[in-house]
Amino acid sequence: MKLRKLVMISSLLLGLTPLCLGQNIKGSSHDFTSKTQYNTTGELCIVCHAPHGTSSVAVPLWNHNITSQIFSTYIGYKFPQRGGLTITQPDGASKLCLSCHDGVSAMNQFGGINGTTYQGTSPTPQPLTTNDRIGTDLTNDHPISFIYNTALAQLDGALKDPSTATTSLGGTIATDMLDINGKVQCPSCHEVHDQTIYRFGKISNAGSALCLTCHNK
Ligand code: HEC
Ligand code: HEC
Ligand code: HEC
Ligand code: HEC
Repeated sequence: MKLRKLVMISSLLLGLTPLCLGQNIKGSSHDFTSKTQYNTTGELCIVCHAPHGTSSVAVPLWNHNITSQIFSTYIGYKFPQRGGLTITQPDGASKLCLSCHDGVSAMNQFGGINGTTYQGTSPTPQPLTTNDRIGTDLTNDHPISFIYNTALAQLDGALKDPSTATTSLGGTIATDMLDINGKVQCPSCHEVHDQTIYRFGKISNAGSALCLTCHNK
């Protein structure tokens, strides 16, 4: 008993418990502290956020270039029969992700004054060139930037109502996974600051648990 308590306490101290969820960006592919050629101060958050002088058009305190690409968007398989969910250009947080994951924008385009000029010192931009480049063609990616509400769930017939509790996040689909406008965005499925779950997952997709949080299949 004493030993178990001790183990519990020491794992708390070491941050090995689920308490560390949401705090595990260090050492991940979103940690740019070692990129001293363009991140001259070696800060962790600065590539994406700053405390002052950030972009006036994007929250939260966005300090990185915002993509200006035009994206090809997802064309629904069953959308027409359902009287028309049309997927528009990416907005909200998805646009922030795509400001690096579009395969065009450079990592070093951050900082500067009011989000208009960037401190990137590298002569050549460094866009993503790997598998992690989502690119500008979103026709083969899960739809994003659309409202997921009760009406859509009913129209679909196999979607859970957004007021349904999520199994592991503590709230509902609406409060845990949708943005302030009730939209599905990249962070519906990803936690950009935490690599604990594979691929910055918000919920583990083992047994497709992530998909089954919203889809009733
Ligand atoms: C690679 C880019 C990136 C880095 C680096 C990053 N963030 Fe974020 N952050 C985002 C994006 C994108 C959002 C909006 C989407 C979301 O809420 O997940 C966000 C949202 C937030 C929010 C508001 C929502 C929330 O999760 O509470 C806070 C606070 C925040 N970040 C703090 C930080 C701090 C502090 C650091 C450094 C330790 C940091 N971020 C590093 C991209 C980043
Ligand atoms: C400042 C640029 C930047 C922003 C903003 C950004 N990312 Fe990334 N992301 C990267 C880089 C760089 C990598 C690593 C690329 C590589 O080497 O393959 C990466 C990797 C990833 C990976 C793969 C992780 C792995 O395990 O391999 C995922 C998933 C991801 N990002 C999701 C997101 C999401 C979702 C957002 C928005 C909420 C976001 N990113 C915002 C730069 C960014
Ligand atoms: C419906 C859930 C969902 C949404 C929405 C979503 N992703 Fe993902 N994403 C995943 C899952 C699950 C994986 C892991 C797939 C695997 O490797 O098995 C993944 C993997 C990735 C990867 C790693 C490379 C790859 O293709 O496996 C990147 C980068 C990424 N996502 C970025 C994004 C960005 C940027 C957005 C928004 C434009 C986004 N994701 C929206 C669920 C989602
Ligand atoms: C945050 C909730 C959410 C999560 C998590 C999620 N989806 Fe979805 N997905 C939706 C919504 C909402 C739609 C739009 C459905 C509609 O209009 O009927 C959708 C659409 C789709 C479609 C397109 C259907 C069509 O008619 O074209 C497929 C396929 C799909 N999701 C598969 C997945 C898979 C696979 C996963 C897990 C990797 C996943 N989804 C995770 C909410 C989610």
